[in-house]
Formats: sequence, C-alpha cells, structure tokens
Amino acid sequence: MHESYGGVVPELASRAHMQNIVPVVDTALQKANCKLEDLDAIAFTQSPGLIGALLVGAQFAKSLSLALDIPLIAVHHMQAHVMANFIDDSKPAFPFLCLTVSGGHTQIVLCHSPSDMNVIGESIDDAAGEAFDKSAKMLGLPYPGGPLIDKYARMGNPLRFNFPEPQIPELDYSFSGVKTAILYFLQEQKKQNENFVEENLADICASIQERIVTILLNKLRKASHQTGITTICLAGGVSANSSLRKGLQNMGEKNNWSAFIPRFEYCTDNAAMIAITAHYKFLAKEFSPLSVTSNARARWE
Ligand code: KG4
Ligand code: ZN
Repeated sequence: MHESYGGVVPELASRAHMQNIVPVVDTALQKANCKLEDLDAIAFTQSPGLIGALLVGAQFAKSLSLALDIPLIAVHHMQAHVMANFIDDSKPAFPFLCLTVSGGHTQIVLCHSPSDMNVIGESIDDAAGEAFDKSAKMLGLPYPGGPLIDKYARMGNPLRFNFPEPQIPELDYSFSGVKTAILYFLQEQKKQNENFVEENLADICASIQERIVTILLNKLRKASHQTGITTICLAGGVSANSSLRKGLQNMGEKNNWSAFIPRFEYCTDNAAMIAITAHYKFLAKEFSPLSVTSNARARWE
C-alpha cells in the first residue's frame, strides 16, 4: 500500500492499525491457544513512531488493562529491538554492546541489564536504514529498498565502486555524506551512459552495501576496544542484512567476540520483541499508569 507513495503514509498507517488491531489480537490469542482471561499483563509500544499508529495501540492496551484488571506495560521500540536478542534460548550475558540499526535509528547501546541501557554512539544525521532506502530510491527501486539492495548485492562485486568512509569523532555515525557521494556518482555516470544503473545494478548495490556495513562494523569494533566489552549483539531492521550478519560473524571470530544476532524474523519490526521486553518489565514490576502518554519522538537512554 505504501510502496506506490515511496514511503509510509502516516494517515494510511493509522487507519490500517484501526482496522487490524482487533483481528490481529484475536489471531495472536488463537495461535497462543489462550483466552483474554489468561493474560497476566498487556504491553504496547509507547514510543517512538508515527503518533497515529502509536495512539491506536496505546488506547487499545489501556482499555484491555482496565477491562481485565491486569497491569499495563509501556515499551520503548528501540529497547525492544535490543531485547529481541532474548527471544531464543541462546541469550547474551550482560554487559554487552548492541548495534541497533533500523529505518530511523543507528545506535551503539551499552546494556547492563534489561532496564539499564545507555546509548554511547549514534547517527548525527540519517539512519543506516535510511541510507539503504534512499540509495535504493536513487536506483529506481521501490520502498523499502534495503532488502532489495541486499538481494541484488549478492550477485555483485562489492569492491567495484568505492564510496567514502566518513570521519566522525568518537562512536557516532553519519550517513548523509555517503548518500550525497552516491547521488553525485550516479549523476556523473549517467551523463556518460544513460543505462549505467541498469547495466551495473548488482555491482552498485554490492558497493553501497559494502560501505554502509563497513561504516557500521568499524565503529562497533572501536566501541568494543574502548569499553573492553566483547559480547556483541545486533538488532533492528538492518540487522536482517546478509552482509552485516556475515560481517559481524567474521569480525567476531577475529576479535574473539561472543556474537548474537536475532533470528531473521525478529530483526525487522515485530510484536515478539515488544512481548519479550514486557516479560522482563513484568518480572521487575515496571508497570505504567493509565495516564501514560504516547510519544512520537521520545529519546531513550
Ligand atoms: O526496525 P525496522 O523494521 O523499522 C524501524 O524501526 O525503522 O527497520 C526498517 C529498516 C528499513 O530501512 C529497511 O530498508 C531496513 O530496515 N532493512 C534492510 C534489510 N531488511 C530491512 N536493510 C538492508 N538489508 C536488509 N536485508
Ligand atoms: Zn524498528
């Protein structure tokens, strides 16, 4: 639905949430083979995100909490991405570092416990997922372009074209320079050959992906050196990227890291990551009052 607009349309997303929330909850209960009365608590995504969609989830969860007289648990989306590493049996030991890379965020998070997490580095401009999506758009690929760049890159040469690695201090990231470099490169090449993109799509995708992934991993290695922490996790939609997953494994083997990556389906946005975060909050009795408000932009540290 959003594809034809080249991105998510907030109003369409809110309406889709309204239409789907009851059937989705019904299906989830059926799949889990339980009834509403069996629930111990109800969790929802409080922030960040599109406010219309967040409000639908929040109001629904509050109503259920009140009607069933069970605790309400507000969950931060980025904390939930990190906690996706706890869904399967093999779980990272604290403290660990998590590179959380999504469509809106690029963060290195220092995690001491499920509730004690600090962002020690982040993008000062575009997120890594945005860099993938905007590059894909320049190549004429539909939204979201990240998975398509990944797909075409498998058939291409990652060393064919060289895009610059930004020099950003400390553990922060920047992707806007790479994006501009890709734009100018494509404009220049198309002047000489108007079919340049079509004829070289796999190599272009592989080279863009190579640069984004090396930027991400080089800072992660620096963060590990600085903190002395060698348990390293990935999270967020971009951690579904095959080259990033492979790159982390390779860097982990070289540096003796204990590396964790959520199963593919728990990388991009999913409800299981909200539920596992709520599980830990439930154990710690971190409940929210009915007056808790949704927040489109809330920072989280
Ligand atoms: O975490 P997520 O599902 O939603 C947000 O919280 O933003 O992340 C979505 C982002 C999009 O930018 C999408 O292009 C990117 O994750 N993404 C990928 C891949 N799968 C999803 N980027 C590169 N390679 C992939 N395989
Ligand atoms: Zn996300």
